[in-house]
This record gives sequence, C-alpha cells and structure tokens, in this order.
Amino acid sequence: MIVRNALRLCILCYMAFILYLFAPKLYYLFDRLRQTNPWSGQKWIEQIWIPTDAELRCLNGTAQLPNKTSSSSSSPIPNIVHFNFGLKNPLYDSKNPQFDFLNYLAIRSALISLSPDALYLHYTYLSSPPSADPYSSPKTNPWIRRLTRQGVTLVHHPPPSTPPPPQNPTSPKQHRQHLQYPHLSDTLRLNILLTLGGIYLDIDAFALRPFTSLLHNPHPTILGHEGGNRFGLCNAVIISRPNSSFLSRWLSSYSHADLSKEWNYHSVRLPKILADENPDEVCTLAPDAFFWPTWTWRHIEWMHSLLDRQKTKEWKDTIERNEGSLFKNQLAYHSWNQLAWDRYLSKLTPEIVRTKNTRFNLLMRRFLEDDI
Ligand SMILES: *[C@@H]1O[C@H](CO)[C@@H](O)[C@H](O)[C@H]1NC(C)=O
Ligand SMILES: *[C@@H]1O[C@H](CO)[C@@H](O)[C@H](O)[C@H]1NC(C)=O
Ligand SMILES: *[C@@H]1O[C@H](CO)[C@@H](O)[C@H](O)[C@H]1NC(C)=O
Repeated sequence: MIVRNALRLCILCYMAFILYLFAPKLYYLFDRLRQTNPWSGQKWIEQIWIPTDAELRCLNGTAQLPNKTSSSSSSPIPNIVHFNFGLKNPLYDSKNPQFDFLNYLAIRSALISLSPDALYLHYTYLSSPPSADPYSSPKTNPWIRRLTRQGVTLVHHPPPSTPPPPQNPTSPKQHRQHLQYPHLSDTLRLNILLTLGGIYLDIDAFALRPFTSLLHNPHPTILGHEGGNRFGLCNAVIISRPNSSFLSRWLSSYSHADLSKEWNYHSVRLPKILADENPDEVCTLAPDAFFWPTWTWRHIEWMHSLLDRQKTKEWKDTIERNEGSLFKNQLAYHSWNQLAWDRYLSKLTPEIVRTKNTRFNLLMRRFLEDDI
C-alpha cells in the first residue's frame, strides 16, 4: 500500500516537473494556435490591399482639400519630433521599467531619418535604475546621456496631481486603474501636438525615411491605416499642425472613456470613424506607410525570422533601392511592442542586431553607432 502510494506520488511529481519544464513551450504553442487559427480574424488583418489614389496623393504630396477655399493653413507642419516615455510610475510597470537599447534605436532612427529641427522626449520617470521619484535625474541612464549629446531635448511632465493616489498603494492593479495610464499616454500625445504640432512617434515606431512630402500636406493632420482591411487609423504615428480641429475632436472623446475596456476603440477605431466624417481634416495613408507588416503572429515572425544568405542579399538590395525601407511606400516601421516583446524584441542586443540577419535587424543596423 505504502509502496503504491509512494509510486503514485513519484509519478505525479514527475508529471508536474515535466509540465514545469515545458510550460514556456506550451504557452508558446497555445498562443500560436490562438493567433493563427482560421477563426482568429488575423487573416483579415493580413489581407492583400492596394493603395487608393487618395492615399498615394497624400503620400506624394499632391493631396488637395475637398474644398479648396477652406484651406486651413499653408505653412508647413513643423519638422519636430515627439516621443513619450515613462509616464507610468515604474513601481507599477513591470513590463517596461527603464529606457533601454530598443528605445534608444527608435530615437536614433528618428534623428537620422527625419533630421528634425528638434526632438523632444517627454517623460515623467526616466532614471536608471528605475525610481519611483519623478524628480530623479534621467542622466543616470547611459542611453539618455548618449541621446542628449546628439541634440535630444528632455521635457519633464510632473505626474498627474489629480486624482489623488489610492488609499491602499500596495495594490498595483487598483493604482493602475485609478490613474488610467493608457489614457495619460493617449491624451498627452494629442495635447503636445495641439500645442506644438509636428511628428509624434510611439517609442516602438522606427522612422526609416524623411517625412518631407507629408509636411506640406494641406490637411492639418495625417494618419496611417492599420491592417490590410484598413480597420483603423493607429495613433502610434501622428503628424499634425498645431491647433488641429481633428485632434481636438479626438481628444474630447477621451474625457468620457473607460479605457480599460475601450482602448483599441479610442486609439485605433474612433480616429477612422472621425476621419470618414471629416475628410478635409485628415489625410490618410495606405497601410504600408507606417503599419506594415502588421501585428499578427505570422507578420511578426516574418520580420524577425533568420534569413539565409540568398534572402539576406535580396533584402539588403531592396532596402538600399528603397532608401532604407522594405517597401517602396514605407516611411516607418511600428514594431508592436506589446505583441513582439516576449517572442523577439526582448532578446535583441547591439551585437545581435549587427550580426543576425533578419528583416528587422537589416532595417535597424544603420541606426547603431559604432561604439556600442
Ligand atoms: C501622386 O499620386 C497620384 C495618385 O496616384 C498620381 O496621379 C500623381 O501623378 C502622383 N504625383 C506625383 C508628383 O508623383
Ligand atoms: C465648400 O465651400 C462652399 C463655399 O464656401 C460651401 O458652400 C460648401 O458647403 C463647401 N462644401 C463642403 C463639402 O464643405
Ligand atoms: C492656436 O490657437 C490659439 C487660440 O485659438 C492661438 O492663440 C494660438 O496662436 C494658435 N497656435 C498656433 C501655433 O497656431
């Protein structure tokens, strides 16, 4: 009896051990199945599309307002770039605690590809190691020291004073919900552009070529489609004159939003709906301008899978022909941090970007400085 029970226990322990060993693999398999099964909807996002004439005119700088007389402004959109980082208290943000190599690469790509008149990094918490003190010095972070030497301007935004912190600060979840952090990031970018105008880029968006042809567009705001089915206009890249009526309209939609439920609606779907209703306020670009390939499992894999010698040569030639892009009409690549971080992005180092040939690494290599 005792022997049999001991045997059972052994088998159970053994099974638990095996499960523990393979848990990451199992999770990966499950995630893959969840995303690539025919009912996941990712096929719609990946579907083939062709650019419309209006999108091409928006890209090549020949777009005109539907009603020429209502021309809002003829001065170009200022060639200044804005990034946001570290708006959340790092104590409550385990995923993205400090400014790191890939964040540096994103800002380098904007410096090199866009040659901006100014580049602002808007932040609340930026020190290294991460500190919950919003006034600790960002210069403790070596990447930040490097970037400020290259002309990047740091703009500090104090943490929101209202609403007050929760009674029980030991509950991170409650704290997060309380402050509505996604709300903060989404509305800050709109407020910055309403005041200063320019080019807003998410910290996982990499500029590949100059945006010059966009800056003279008569529309006050320019956005890019997300998805081959163009289901939305993503707020990871926004180009706008100051005081844009479109951005005001968009911003006011956040005032009564519950973003724990509707983040994607307010940041991707709603701008598309607003743009359809107000076509002379915003010029829209085809999906490949900023958001192609997309965030689907297969598309992310395509960006990060190792290329053989032949394919490496082909893609190097293509990128050179396109002056830095994978496709003729691509201006930036959004790397979809939320979906690609665990699988690929978290593993990248300067050494890997330099030596391993993936489409992503081939695009990024020229933004690396020699001494890192
Ligand atoms: C811009 O794109 C439109 C639409 O495809 C095309 O008709 C026009 O010739 C293009 N203009 C330039 C200058 O490339
Ligand atoms: C275009 O402008 C004219 C005259 O200013 C105006 O009557 C008309 O409603 C406008 N059309 C659109 C679509 O805005
Ligand atoms: C934006 O609008 C405000 C008031 O309507 C005006 O005072 C300000 O000069 C405008 N800013 C720009 C950059 O046009």
